[in-house]
Amino acid sequence: MNALRVLGLLLVCQLALAIESAPYTVVNSADTYEERVYPAQKWITTSILSISHDEATSITFYRLFDYIDGQNEDGMKIDMTAPVTTLVIPGEGPNCENNFTESFYIPSAHQANPPKPTNPDVYIEERPELHVFSRRFHGFASDQDWITNAAQLHDDLVAAGEEGVDFQTYYTVGYDSPFVIIDRDNEVWFMKK
Ligand SMILES: *[C@@H]1O[C@H](CO)[C@@H](O)[C@H](O)[C@H]1NC(C)=O
Repeated sequence: MNALRVLGLLLVCQLALAIESAPYTVVNSADTYEERVYPAQKWITTSILSISHDEATSITFYRLFDYIDGQNEDGMKIDMTAPVTTLVIPGEGPNCENNFTESFYIPSAHQANPPKPTNPDVYIEERPELHVFSRRFHGFASDQDWITNAAQLHDDLVAAGEEGVDFQTYYTVGYDSPFVIIDRDNEVWFMKK
């Protein structure tokens, strides 16, 4: 094994051990997707209009990262969590840009009273209970990978006869910081109405 791979594994292990994840319960496991319920929780959130997922999230990720790095009214550092979710509303902008709304889960220790963000583009989202269908895939996800996997999940849900799925919007979901180079986990989610 070369040094880069060893470093990558170390990073993966440290993150896997250290990071708190948003709680959920599994309702049903199918071959290619999982149905889950996330209880109502607070997330830290910001939106942008863009053509490209990659371009949008390279801006929104760092707005949220700055918040947990101390850009909040208490100047408080807050632990990174998983996953990072991005709600994609296709074609919402005046020039048919997509609306990308990215969020970090606020750690349980700060759920009751999270510090207010100082950046006016960042806000605390009171996310209601979320019922989703999730498809997992791996690697560095490109704009095309998100779309391909959302389309596959759509087809699988239709083929399985799942009812009450909202196909108008979807979430892209990441579990690794941009610094993790191997064994990256990604998901796409459709919401149940
Ligand atoms: C994008 O969508 C979010 C979530 O629905 C909404 O709060 C925000 O106002 C939208 N942003 C723009 C610029 O349309």
